Amino acid sequence: MDCPIPNAVVPVAGLGTRLLPATKSQPKGMLPVARKPIVQYVLEELGRSGVRNVLFVTGQGKAAIENHFDPDTGLMDTLRRSGKDDLLLELDFEKLGLNILYTRQSVQRGLGDAILHGESFAGRDPFIVALGDSIIGLKGDSTACRRMADAFVEHEAEVVIAVEEVPPERVRFYGIVDPGGDGDLFPIRTMVEKPSLDVAPSRLAVSGRYVFSPTIFDMIRSVRPDRRGEIQITDAIRRVAERGGKVLGVKLRPEEKRHDIGNMPSYFETFIEFALADPDHGERVRSHLIKVLGVPPGKQL
Ligand code: G1P
Repeated sequence: MDCPIPNAVVPVAGLGTRLLPATKSQPKGMLPVARKPIVQYVLEELGRSGVRNVLFVTGQGKAAIENHFDPDTGLMDTLRRSGKDDLLLELDFEKLGLNILYTRQSVQRGLGDAILHGESFAGRDPFIVALGDSIIGLKGDSTACRRMADAFVEHEAEVVIAVEEVPPERVRFYGIVDPGGDGDLFPIRTMVEKPSLDVAPSRLAVSGRYVFSPTIFDMIRSVRPDRRGEIQITDAIRRVAERGGKVLGVKLRPEEKRHDIGNMPSYFETFIEFALADPDHGERVRSHLIKVLGVPPGKQL
C-alpha cells in the first residue's frame, strides 16, 4: 500500500532533559518501551502507512539510532542458525522497504528548525513529520498518517495535524488548536503553543504527526525564535493559517492513543501498557503487578 506522500521527516535531536539521567548518554528515541526502542515503533508505523523514504534529523550523541537501523548481517546469521526466527522478524528492517537517511541538527534551535533540516530531502513535494518520541496506538497499526496524507491531497491542504483530546492538566504541555468544526476532520483556525488552561482555545492537542506542504519552510524561516532561542513549528503553522492556507486537523481514533515519551511519568505508563500488551509476556507482567499491588483475590487489575 503506497502512501500518496512517500517522504517522512523524523526529528530525534531533542536533548531529552525531562528524561535524565536515562538519556544522559543515549538518545531518548532509543529508550525501550517493552521490547523495542521508541524509534523502531515510529519507523514501523511509517512503513506500514506506505511511506518509502525516511529522514531522521539527529544531533549530538544520537549515533545509537543509526546503529540500530544498520543491517547487522553477523547477528542475523547467528539468529538464523539458532532458529530464532521470531527475533529475526523484529530486526529485519529491510522488510519495511524503507530508504533511511540521516541529517544532523548541530545546534538545538527547536522543532521548527529541526524540520527545516528536511528541506532538501523534501524538495518541492509535501512530506510527513513524525516526532521520534511519540508512539501512536498499542499495536503499531495506526493508519493516522495515511488518513492525514489522503486528507491533505483530497482537500488541497497546506498543513494537516493529528490531534487528540487531553485532560485539562495536560493542556500546558502541548500545542493546542482552535478547531473550526467537529468530527474526525476539521479546519483549524489557529493554534497556541503550550497555553495555560484559561487561554487555551480547546483541549485538542497537537499529537506528534503532521503533513506539510513545502511552503512550510518559508514560514519557518519567517518566524522569530522564542525566548529560549527555539523556533517553534506552531508559530510557522499559525502563519500559514493567517495567510489563508488550509490547515486541517485529523482526530486520532480511540485505539490510536498517542503515547508521549517526553517525560518520566508518561514513559513509565507507556512502558507498563506495552509490557501488559506483550503477546508472550503480558500475562506474566499482569500477575506480577497484581502481586506487587496487593490486589485481593477475585479482583481484576
Ligand atoms: C512539540 C510541539 C507541540 C506538540 C508536541 C507533541 O512540543 O511543539 O506543539 O504538541 O511536540 O509532542 P515538545 O514536546 O517538543 O516540547
